[in-house]
Amino acid sequence: MSDRKTDGERIFIGVAWPYANGPLHLGTVVGCLLPADIFGRYHRMQGNRVLMVSGSDEHGTPITLKAEKEGVTPKDIADRYNRQHVDNIDALGIELENFSRTSNSFHRQVVQDFFLRLHENGYIYPETMESPYCESCGRFLPDRYVEGTCPYCGGTARGDQCEDCGKTLEAGEVDDPRCKLCGEMPVMRETEHLFFELSAFEDELLAWLADKDFWRGNVITFTRNWIREGLEDRAVTRDLEWGVPVPLEGYEDKRLYVWFEAVMGYLSASREWAEQQDTPEAWRNWWQSDARHYYFLAKDNIPFHTIIWPAMLLAHGDLRLPYDVPANEYLTFSGEQFSKSKGIGVWIPDVLERFAPDAIRYYLSINMPEKHDTDWNWRDFEAKTNNELVGTLGNFVHRVLTFTAKHYGEIPEMGKLTPDDEAMLEAIEKRGEAISEAIETVRLKQGMKELIALAQQGNRYLNEQEPWNLVKQQRERCGTVLHVALRLVKALAVYAAPYLPHAGQRIWSMLGQPGQVKEQRWKAALDGLADAALETPTPLFDTIDIDDLVAEDGGDAAEGCEQLDLRVAEISRVREHPDADRLYVFDLDIGGLGRRRIVAGIRPWYDEEELEGRRIVVVVNLKPAVIRGVRSQGMLLAADDGSPSLLVATGEPGSVVTPAGVEAAPADEVDIELLRELPLEVNEDGVAVCGGCELRDKNGVVRPDRDVAAGTPIH
Ligand code: MF3
Ligand code: ZN
Repeated sequence: MSDRKTDGERIFIGVAWPYANGPLHLGTVVGCLLPADIFGRYHRMQGNRVLMVSGSDEHGTPITLKAEKEGVTPKDIADRYNRQHVDNIDALGIELENFSRTSNSFHRQVVQDFFLRLHENGYIYPETMESPYCESCGRFLPDRYVEGTCPYCGGTARGDQCEDCGKTLEAGEVDDPRCKLCGEMPVMRETEHLFFELSAFEDELLAWLADKDFWRGNVITFTRNWIREGLEDRAVTRDLEWGVPVPLEGYEDKRLYVWFEAVMGYLSASREWAEQQDTPEAWRNWWQSDARHYYFLAKDNIPFHTIIWPAMLLAHGDLRLPYDVPANEYLTFSGEQFSKSKGIGVWIPDVLERFAPDAIRYYLSINMPEKHDTDWNWRDFEAKTNNELVGTLGNFVHRVLTFTAKHYGEIPEMGKLTPDDEAMLEAIEKRGEAISEAIETVRLKQGMKELIALAQQGNRYLNEQEPWNLVKQQRERCGTVLHVALRLVKALAVYAAPYLPHAGQRIWSMLGQPGQVKEQRWKAALDGLADAALETPTPLFDTIDIDDLVAEDGGDAAEGCEQLDLRVAEISRVREHPDADRLYVFDLDIGGLGRRRIVAGIRPWYDEEELEGRRIVVVVNLKPAVIRGVRSQGMLLAADDGSPSLLVATGEPGSVVTPAGVEAAPADEVDIELLRELPLEVNEDGVAVCGGCELRDKNGVVRPDRDVAAGTPIH
């Protein structure tokens, strides 16, 4: 397939811009950055001209909410995480032509020009609308400031999108809305906003999509169905101070909607790159030409890239539309209890501290959620790294290089070839084509599998040829075998380069080949070897021992947590305490442990009706106490940031809740003193932890029933 291509095709790669409101997550890497990087690296090696851009998405409510939570400015948040993201992206070996920021003035200018052009073209109009307004906070509640129930699927929805079904929502659409800041129910209030006439593009979009049957099934189906249901115009301004100002008079106190503006980053970052290259018009070669545009993102971003952004491009006129949008499903973390508890975590800074970037890239590549969700599992990560990356690929390369270095010290000459040798050389070519084809059709997992299979073939070839026997009596034949094996090593360096850039380069250098592997053409995998002396090589990859990491990190942090006996309890009855107006008396059903009565001071914050039937988390081995005349046998757990938020669980009543990774050794009875001293709090993910170990029942993690800041104590 690759041979049929002409050199120098132009490929534009847009990578969804991560919000700069927290550390990068493995999910962002596997869904967007890594597939884009593999794809980009491959195309550069094919001799195509790649422009790959992304950046920090720094506006909108994801950033302002985080800033409000921490009491700092949105700019502080954006600066902090932009810097961290840039470092992490670099450490992972992800290479872009430009990783920009939506808060810079260049982007602002491009966005305002784009907006004005849509306005001139007649696709922007003002309209008075009702928007949620919180009377107790005295402000409008754009987007994520509202949380409620999705009117389409019943899931948890934010003001602008449902987290569960992915449907984008308009202001006021969510059911049972709550103010994210204070929990009050907002009222609807009139405010004027500017709208983008998305509805005008139904036919044009469907026509553009007509030949997109090669898209991933879920992406094309989702997109077409959505359009067929009818497109509605969308408000593209918000009542916010943080964001790109609206370049029209009368809208000084509004900002452009973050999504409307962030997608334009693909264009602004391209133009910015052109400026940086001192070829300010060069962006046109990608945006006003026959370049192919690929966008890498996770599934919740699909409509923005397959409907709204294309419609904006159509409204603008003379800009290139997406060619393919190979959106990924999600990466889940069922194995998380095991290691997250030890702080190994799924946050990129943590992962990078402990593992080599290529090990991370390998596991993510062969586990890419291309067609359906896949799971990050630490045991499996360990097994795949050790068996495949180290055991198959690393091992083959190491065997060949050490043996050759020891017995020849240089690349030996190739003599007469046997059919086995020919077959091996042919496999190099065939597999290379298969990898090529897989990458070009964005089946990256498949490409990685082919690569490992090729290394496996190499190991088999060595086992059959037994160079260690040949070297004694048939030194020349042995040299030929090694030469063939070294050809394979070279091909592996080339083929691995898009996926495992660090390893690819290491192999290339150990082979003594000149230059950098990423500067080679893909076809170079089939060329002969440059003569080179070989020094004693070092292993390519390290094995991983997850247990070692646990041993190293476990211990102290969770001291004391193991003594708790925590159970899921269902509230069967709630009464007001006869003698205290802050207290309730609860009758609890704790499954096998029977019924218990406890007293808790949450009456000012919770109504009786909303408590009945709920499943909460209770310390059942707390020393009983008499509280204002009522005997209390245990204590419920709540996060407390001034007002309590009950920890809720989904397991059956009586089921055990434990700090993950901690061996439970519940004491017969624990004192309230011990409980006060335990490092019980809410972590960055909103999960209850004891000494950093997540509390879980068999269904999953335990969380407070509303969002609280990381570090909020639990008692
Ligand atoms: N920040 C968004 C998210 O994380 C993605 C934005 S993609 C962009 O979901 F192109 F619009 F920037
Ligand atoms: Zn409020």
